[in-house]
Amino acid sequence: MSLVSSTPLLLEARKQGYGIVAFNVHTLEMLQAVVDAAEESRSPLILQTTVGTVKHLGIDYIVGAAQAAAKQASIPIALHLDHCQDFNLIMKCMKAGYTSVMIDQSMHPFETNVEMTQKVVEVARALQVNVEAELGKVGGVEDDIDVADHMATLADPDECQRFVELTGVSTLAPAIGTAHGIYKGEPKIDFKRIAEIAGKVDVPLVLHGGSGIPAEQVKQCVALGMAKVNVATELKNAFTLSLQQFFKEKPSELDPRAYMVEAKRVVRQIAIEKMTMSGCINKA
Ligand code: 13P
Repeated sequence: MSLVSSTPLLLEARKQGYGIVAFNVHTLEMLQAVVDAAEESRSPLILQTTVGTVKHLGIDYIVGAAQAAAKQASIPIALHLDHCQDFNLIMKCMKAGYTSVMIDQSMHPFETNVEMTQKVVEVARALQVNVEAELGKVGGVEDDIDVADHMATLADPDECQRFVELTGVSTLAPAIGTAHGIYKGEPKIDFKRIAEIAGKVDVPLVLHGGSGIPAEQVKQCVALGMAKVNVATELKNAFTLSLQQFFKEKPSELDPRAYMVEAKRVVRQIAIEKMTMSGCINKA
């Protein structure tokens, strides 16, 4: 199979009431681990990379690896660009083979967000690429996007409706109380707001800040209309902690093929847990 657009996958997920997990991957091994997990559990999969990872690995290496995974896999796989503020980089990624992009203008006024999102949607439509945008501001840290608690704002349901009508965006990430990174306490998710937004907007909704949310709360978000569940920090931290542990036990190991084995297994296991709580097992 080739990489597919995430739009039909997410429309089906919202219709059937399950969530597809979008995993942020930073290395080839992380990518392989989540693909293995999705294949084993027959789950549709969204691979995603931040702008930082695009700079670190290079667009063509990422697209090449994702295409290789899709070719071998028997499950549908989409490749998504996460939180991008740069129109030109979005164009480059779409041209290179990304099948989904996020234009994040949530730091700008509503009108600017609409205008920039419209521009991306115009090109993406022709290429059948999915477009995600954010309303309100999701708190926390992801790469060099750092939104302090007092700067995070929740999405307004009426604005969400107007935004989707004006832009024709295919997926919407409304800020509803989750945050990027590790939560200090329990996340304070505004479930009532998700329900209100879902009542006004029929495109699939995206849950950002998927690390550290208790399973019951993820399930509740998905049941209310969150069809894409983003997970980054938990995978990244587990991957690195596994390597740290490995070197504590075997400080003289020099072969990356040896020390990556356990890190891949850990990532695979977390991926299965996240897909289980999102309800996408056997939905491929
Ligand atoms: P976490 O890092 O909290 O898992 O958030 C992931 C995310 O929302 C990526 O956009």
